[in-house]
Amino acid sequence: MMTRRSAVTGLLLGGATAALASGVAGNRMLRRLLLGAPAFASSLKPLAIPAPLAGEMRDGVRRYTLHLQRGVSSFFDGVETPTLGINGAYLGPTLKMRSGERVRIEVTNRIGEPTTLHWHGLHLPARADGGPHQIIEDGATWSAEFEVRQRASTFWYHSHMAPRTGPQVYRGLAGLIEVADEASDRLDLPAEYGVDDVPLVLQDRAFDRDGALLYGTAMPDVMMGMRGDVMLVNGTVGPYFEARTEKLRLRILNGSNARFYRLGFADGRPFHQIATDGGLLERPHETSAITLAPAERAQIVVDLSDGRPVDLLARSVPVGMMGGGMMRGHMMGDDRTFDVLAIRPGAGRRRSAPLPDRLVDLEPPDEARAIRTRRFVLEMAMGPMVMMGASDPFTINGKTMDMGRIDEVARVGTSEIWQIENDSMMAHPFHIHDVQFRILDRNGAPPPPGEMGLKDTVVVAPGERVRLLLDFADYSDPDRPYMYHCHILEHEDAGMMGQFVVTA
Ligand code: C2O
Ligand code: CU
Ligand code: CU
Repeated sequence: MMTRRSAVTGLLLGGATAALASGVAGNRMLRRLLLGAPAFASSLKPLAIPAPLAGEMRDGVRRYTLHLQRGVSSFFDGVETPTLGINGAYLGPTLKMRSGERVRIEVTNRIGEPTTLHWHGLHLPARADGGPHQIIEDGATWSAEFEVRQRASTFWYHSHMAPRTGPQVYRGLAGLIEVADEASDRLDLPAEYGVDDVPLVLQDRAFDRDGALLYGTAMPDVMMGMRGDVMLVNGTVGPYFEARTEKLRLRILNGSNARFYRLGFADGRPFHQIATDGGLLERPHETSAITLAPAERAQIVVDLSDGRPVDLLARSVPVGMMGGGMMRGHMMGDDRTFDVLAIRPGAGRRRSAPLPDRLVDLEPPDEARAIRTRRFVLEMAMGPMVMMGASDPFTINGKTMDMGRIDEVARVGTSEIWQIENDSMMAHPFHIHDVQFRILDRNGAPPPPGEMGLKDTVVVAPGERVRLLLDFADYSDPDRPYMYHCHILEHEDAGMMGQFVVTA
């Protein structure tokens, strides 16, 4: 339904120009408009758990080997889908790291086109960041070496190949990183990987009638970001999970290109959020719903001691605030709810320890340590020139991404306030490389409890002004930039990205 609607909007908006310019994908979209979405059969499957990869400790360095490759996946019964993966056909292993350790990740690219691999959320030297400048040609190997200077949390890695991040991630080039530290080891939290500590990578995808992943490049797919009508969870369609413990910890990544989700349980049961993007919260936060924009992560703990099966649901959150007409219908109307995971509490469940009242110590974010404020204004132009492709629709401070231009220069050892203002009519998840920041306020008000932790991606709603506190604690490099950008991958690819360096 959704894709049919976007195709209709595309024809109305971009007219023949967009339909012709979008080439093959446009034809597939057009075919889908005429024939409707394919209905493939899919039986209920056990949730796939990405293989944990601990690497190999040699000479004091933990070494990981990753192969980016092409593969074929069976998301539906008897249907083959060409995909990309890391050490497998779709997605990649979960890299297990420890804070304080030195790691080296060797990445070999065999996907048939250039790519990069970025460690989202990790604080590291710019040369190891895997951003758009660290290109790995097809057939080549690139290595990133750095010390893990993170609190325990869930991070992720993904292609960052400008301007092809959207299609490469969509086809499967992403995976998780789990960092552990002493503070988290000491807590009695569910921590057995794949048993009571379970990662969930949420990705909506659209499929063509031949089973291929459908990636649209027409104007509505770029404006709204690429969305699909099928939910993949760790690459599984319609997964169930057999719980063997009373409490279940879920590490959720919104790994979608563009869709925002409001997550909660079908029976409305409360649960506890225990972590944000970059670490544990000070104390568990009880709630019955959390919202995750693309690239955001949260960890939750749900109690299953009543023994009843329960479904985790993800309701699509409308992110547009367009006034009237067809665009409004399109942007506001995509109101669907996905089944994420059917949780079946098994017989003889193991007891779980009660959740600790206190998790970690977090210093309150003190804006007095900032030496300056930088403003970042997010804009989306909507005029006829944009619709015809004659001007760039997505800008930050009036500029689109230029790999040859450094937009901001920060000093190592200093702290800054970054004020993000959204002057567009859509919400944008703003992501900053290298740092874990704190949210000072949203339109002057303190952030909600679920955002009072370390973050690397923050949603900025239309008309909103969000102030962030960043510490450039270490690593300087005058020549190699880090990125800041909208994490709707189609916006990023369309230029809603800028570059900053940290100098000595
Ligand atoms: Cu998740 Cu710049 O990336
Ligand atoms: Cu990143
Ligand atoms: Cu955006």
